[in-house]
Amino acid sequence: MSMKKNMLRGKDLISIDHLDRDIILSIFKTADKMKKIAPKKALNILKGKVVALLFFEPSTRTFSSNCAAVKRLGGQTIEHQNPTQTSSVVKGETIEDTIKMIEQYSDAIIIRHPAAGTAQICARAADIPIINAGDGIGEHPTQALLDMYTIYEKFKTLDRIKGLMVGDLLNGRTIHSLLKGLSIFKNSTIYLLSPKTLRLSKKDSAEFSRRGIKLIEINDFDDIPSDLHFWYWTRVQKERFSDKNEYEKLKLSFILDKNLVTKKAGKKTLLMHPLPRVGEIKTEVDSDPRAVYLTTQAKNGMYVRMALLKMILGA
Ligand code: NCD
Repeated sequence: MSMKKNMLRGKDLISIDHLDRDIILSIFKTADKMKKIAPKKALNILKGKVVALLFFEPSTRTFSSNCAAVKRLGGQTIEHQNPTQTSSVVKGETIEDTIKMIEQYSDAIIIRHPAAGTAQICARAADIPIINAGDGIGEHPTQALLDMYTIYEKFKTLDRIKGLMVGDLLNGRTIHSLLKGLSIFKNSTIYLLSPKTLRLSKKDSAEFSRRGIKLIEINDFDDIPSDLHFWYWTRVQKERFSDKNEYEKLKLSFILDKNLVTKKAGKKTLLMHPLPRVGEIKTEVDSDPRAVYLTTQAKNGMYVRMALLKMILGA
């Protein structure tokens, strides 16, 4: 293992930008190990450690896979889901104070919050590691890692990757983090398909292009090339819309169905989605061997988070 691996110890993970190629590859190596060992053997890498999960926005996978990761490593959790209803936040406590308190009880905090930038604010307030589990339309670095791990596992590289991203590219934090993550590797080409009003922001496109990703906006399914490594579908992010009629109009603009897979996917194209899906992938696609969103991709989330927690908090 490279020395760089140890560079995660005690550190925050707010943006995928905090990581470089070597660290990402060593996270993957550790995730490989977790995948081999964890199903058979109880681990005690986090024995005696408490990790707090503070989720101010709904979550199924990120919350559960992080809990499972801590527990499978032998650690314990403090869990607050929806603290705006159940904790002192309801009395008007500031996020800094909440974090300062939770810090007294735990060894690391995993936080999800609706406002972009909140994870960074928490990292400034706390001396223990803060892991960003999604901050508004900002970033979702652990999701990007599990997405990248899923691609890497299949193709053994993250250089010269060609992919398709579909859906809410403006508001989707998983999209933003995955593009940033891919830009740490070389020469990827990403085809972008979204309703006109939900395209990547000008600022994001300029930034990702500057980082060396070739971005190609397409307008419909006919323009999808047949040799892509992955398709990454996303839902339109309802909670970011002030006009719900607008959301209703756009939500099912691009639906992934069997017919499209048959016509346009390559033999090895990974069919991915961070989930939850809300109609944009038909269930008839689920049984396709290339569809990994409900299986490998989700499960990899736990192994990647185990790897990260081991590297950040392990002895
Ligand atoms: C995503 C999120 O919360 O950003 N879900 C997840 O963490 N797997 C995607 C989404 O909610 O659309």
